[in-house]
Amino acid sequence: MTTCPFHQPLLDLDNFTHGTPREAIADLRRQHRMLWQDDALNGGHWLVLHKADIETLLRDPATFSSSFGPLLEDFPPELLEMQRQAMTFMDPPRHRSRRALVDYAFRKDVLDARKPMMQAKVAEIIDGIIDRGECEFVSEVAMHLPVHVIFTLLGIQKSDYDFLVRAINTMTLANDPDYAGDRAEGFAASASLVAWAAQFAAKRRKAPGDDLTSELLRAEVDGRQLSDEEFAVVFQGIIIGGTETTRNTLSWLIYELIQHPGQLARLQADPALVPAAVEEILRYRNTVVYTRRTAMRDVAFAGENIRQGDKMICLLASVNRDPEVFERPDEFDISRDPDLTRRNMRTFGFGVHACLGQHQARLNLEMMMQEILSRMDSFRLLAEPVHFRSNFMDGFKQLRIGFERR
Ligand code: HEM
Repeated sequence: MTTCPFHQPLLDLDNFTHGTPREAIADLRRQHRMLWQDDALNGGHWLVLHKADIETLLRDPATFSSSFGPLLEDFPPELLEMQRQAMTFMDPPRHRSRRALVDYAFRKDVLDARKPMMQAKVAEIIDGIIDRGECEFVSEVAMHLPVHVIFTLLGIQKSDYDFLVRAINTMTLANDPDYAGDRAEGFAASASLVAWAAQFAAKRRKAPGDDLTSELLRAEVDGRQLSDEEFAVVFQGIIIGGTETTRNTLSWLIYELIQHPGQLARLQADPALVPAAVEEILRYRNTVVYTRRTAMRDVAFAGENIRQGDKMICLLASVNRDPEVFERPDEFDISRDPDLTRRNMRTFGFGVHACLGQHQARLNLEMMMQEILSRMDSFRLLAEPVHFRSNFMDGFKQLRIGFERR
């Protein structure tokens, strides 16, 4: 068994205070096919570093199951039982029918109808800051469109936004003391979100509206309707998947364009490059660092003997900077062929759980970027950005920028 000889890049959260430690991950990838790290959480876990191995693993849910969740940390047993109603925690064949319930709402061909609503919001977001010449980009710009799109689709009232956004932050960023004392507080936030959503479902059942929530509650899965609690867990998956990730990606894009003025100038001169810039930031700064699967039996894999119960941590961040997958992987370059980048990056995972919101995410990012480029100019950092202290989600807590009206 190969064990990590020198440090534990994924376990020491101080390694994540300036984003994903990509150099350390590159070192590990150069030296190992896969490696074992001891941890205080549950004995240890495997780090899977190479694209082909990650794909083989994610393609085999019977051997490598999602049923213990996507996080390095184990869920407490009572919460795990509840979370197993979420598609993220399901394996086929059950996963298929649950995913089919929501998949259609995020298919590429249904997004066009959503564009006018999104365009109105995009304009409103920039109207809100344009006269000031400066803003805290994460909270004043990047988070608003993804939250608005998902919450509007689900029929959530504006008065509930704050509670839900706080709960999402606490859950996904529980490693960061600014959001939660520890992972347990994150798990508690998850339980309170699910309880809120179950009540929301009960109300909507009595008074349905024209929204995804009412459709989900009406739909039949395997011959019956979802219970309020089952709905709540599906709801949780959609709002978590759809908000943090996209806001972090947009923040990274602005940051990298400020760091690379030549590329910003090219984008400003030719906004048709926006989709390529979006693809490149998705590759270069993938915000979901890893996903986990759990071995369901003893099995030989990637030259190692895996034991039943072993945690397999698939480092998506490793694939996107692998020189065997991308030329000059550590260069941010918006002139890459976006189709090639899209095919090879693993930002959105792989296999049956590959992100169902990826078309929506791209559309959010492209529409925001078009609006920003058409109305703003002369971007600059006003302060050192503040990163999350998380080994799961890569993004900023604060990104203060200055700009001029274009
Ligand atoms: C840049 C933005 C996004 C990134 C980086 C991202 C990343 C990911 C990744 C890596 C997975 C796979 C997790 C796994 O295999 O365990 C995933 C799944 C998922 N994503 Fe996204 N996502 C993004 C945007 C969205 C949006 C906008 C939605 C809105 C609906 C969404 C909803 C979901 C859902 C529901 C799943 C679970 C799918 C399943 O288990 O079958 N995501 N996402």
